[in-house]
Amino acid sequence: MLSLNVNNKQVKVEVDPNTPLLWVLRDNLDLVGTKYGCGVAQCGACVVHLDGEAVRSCVTKAKRAEGKKIVTIEGLAENNDHPVQKAWIEEDVPQCGYCHSGQIMSAVVLLKENPNPSDEDIDIAMSGNICRCGTYSRIRKAIHLAAEINKSNS
Ligand code: FES
Ligand code: FES
Repeated sequence: MLSLNVNNKQVKVEVDPNTPLLWVLRDNLDLVGTKYGCGVAQCGACVVHLDGEAVRSCVTKAKRAEGKKIVTIEGLAENNDHPVQKAWIEEDVPQCGYCHSGQIMSAVVLLKENPNPSDEDIDIAMSGNICRCGTYSRIRKAIHLAAEINKSNS
C-alpha cells in the first residue's frame, strides 16, 4: 500500500511500489491526462511534477513519489486556467494534442526557473518533449505569451 499526495489530495493505492508512477496515475487514480508515449524517458509525454520538479513518470517508481507532492495536468490549476494553459489556448497550440500535457508540465517548470526565456532557452529546455505533429513554433510562441501573462500577474 502506498500513500501518495496527488493534486493536493492524500490517496492510498494498493500497488507494487515499483510500479511506474504513470500507471498508478492512469490506471489506479484515473488521471489519464498524463500520457504514455515511449516508456523509456525519451519523449516527455508523461511529465508530471514531483515537489515542483518535472519528472518522467514512465520511469519513476511510484514509491519514489511517497512523501512528495505530485501534480498532474489535472491539478495544475483549479479551472484549467494556469497562465501556461491560457497561453496554449490563446495560441491554439495542439494539433493531435497527445504530447501537450507533458509539454505544458515541462513549460511550467521552465518558466519557474527562467521567467523570461529566449527562443534558444525554450528550445534547449523543451528539447526532451517530442511532438510528432511538429507544433514546436506554436509551443515557443505560447511560452513567450505565458511569460508575459506571468509578468502582468505579478
Ligand atoms: S512516456 Fe515517458 S518519456 Fe515517453
Ligand atoms: S500535437 Fe500531436 S504529438 Fe504533439
